Parts: sequence; C-alpha cells; structure tokens
Amino acid sequence: MDARERLIVALDVPSVSAAAAMVEKLGPAVSFYKIGYQLAFAGGLSFADTLVRADKKVFLDLKLHDIGNTVAKGVECVAKLGATFLTVHGYLQTMHAAVDARKGSGLRILAVTVLTSYDDADLAAAGYDFTVPELVAERAAQARDIGVDGLVCSAEEAANLRTIASAGMVLVTPGIRPAGAEKGDQKRIMTPARAIAAGADHLVVGRPILEAPDPKAAVEAIVAEIASAAR
Ligand code: C5P
Repeated sequence: MDARERLIVALDVPSVSAAAAMVEKLGPAVSFYKIGYQLAFAGGLSFADTLVRADKKVFLDLKLHDIGNTVAKGVECVAKLGATFLTVHGYLQTMHAAVDARKGSGLRILAVTVLTSYDDADLAAAGYDFTVPELVAERAAQARDIGVDGLVCSAEEAANLRTIASAGMVLVTPGIRPAGAEKGDQKRIMTPARAIAAGADHLVVGRPILEAPDPKAAVEAIVAEIASAAR
C-alpha cells in the first residue's frame, strides 16, 4: 500500500466550512479523511459525499451500536454514501448485522474492541469480568470469526492483535504523535514509524496536523516516516 494511503487525517473540526478549508489546504497531499461525531453532526455526512466525489476516501467514525435491524439499516445508508470505513462497537449482534448489511458494497466495517479511555476499573463498573487486554483479545477473535474487515486499536495493541486478526483484516490506529508533538489528551501514544513497525495498516492523525503551523508540511513529514518504516 502507498504510504500516503496509510495516513488518515481526522477532520475534528466544528463545521463543514472549516473542514473544506483544511481539505483545500492539504490538497493532493491527503487522500483519506476521518469524520467523527463532531463534524458528522454538523453537516459532515453530506460533506462525506463531497469528499467521495472528489476522489477522497472517507472513514466514518460513528461507532454504531443498536439492535441488529437498526444497525443494518444505518450501515446500508452509509454504504450508499460511498464511505470506505465505518466503525461499530465490537458486540456480536452489532458486528453480525454490520457485516451482513455491507455486503455487495465497497464499505468495510471496523470494530472498536474496548475504548482506549477505558481501564480495568471501568470494565468492572460496567459489569465485565475481564481485564482490558482480555476483552480486547476476546472481541478481536469474535470480529475475525464474524468476518469484520478490521479493528481500531491503540498502536500498543497492534502487535498482539496482528496475531489474532486474520491476514486480510486491517488495523487502524489513532493516538499517533510524531516525535516532539503535543500529546493532548492521548495517554498511550506512538510515533508513526513505531506504529507501522508494530503492524498498523492505517494511522489516524488529527491535532498534530490540524494544529500544525504548516499542516501540509506536517503531513509530508508523517508520510515520509511511514514510507521509511514500511521499507
Ligand atoms: O487529534 P488526535 O490525533 O488525538 O485524534 C485522534 C482521532 O482518533 C480522534 O478523532 C479520536 O476521536 C480518534 N480515536 C482515538 N482513540 C480511539 C478511537 C478513536 O483517539 N480509541
């Protein structure tokens, strides 16, 4: 895979006009964008359509979870939008419904195993008798067996999940910080090169690009780091 295709820029901005300005600024340097709650609920779904028409790939990070029928109907609509990736929470019913509903389209389903802000105490409080690594491994194996197309995981989890995931599954990792970049609220971070070496297929990067004095230069530095790590 081309190094540039491996970088997904998180369009975590409050409006379609801010997103359009950033996409314009980055131009051909970026081919893959992620739209999350913030932009999706501010007109971002029609902006996803604009991006697709401009030959960009779109990752809709909507982390769906509902009864199977509702998940399936939502996934069918996202598939019609022409999105490339869609996240769902890694519950059996939800993953089954999403995988069935995306059939015949170019949409690929990514499962979120355990949110990276959760620790063992959060799981215990929610009634789970698992540690975070146990539940991540269990849900990753279930995702593989159901035929989910990939997993969202921290770069720290990537090496272990590579051993659980099937060969065709993609690993998509946020929490990426080039050396010297601000951590922000991310706790477990990795450089682009280390994340690629750990087995990540795609890196999701937001603030280190959006808040850089020269976002395009920040993209080029990350793409160069991905290319050299992938060699
Ligand atoms: O700005 P930053 O590079 O930290 O952005 C990371 C992006 O990845 C954000 O859109 C965030 O919502 C998303 N994400 C994450 N951790 C997860 C799942 C998604 O940081 N476990």
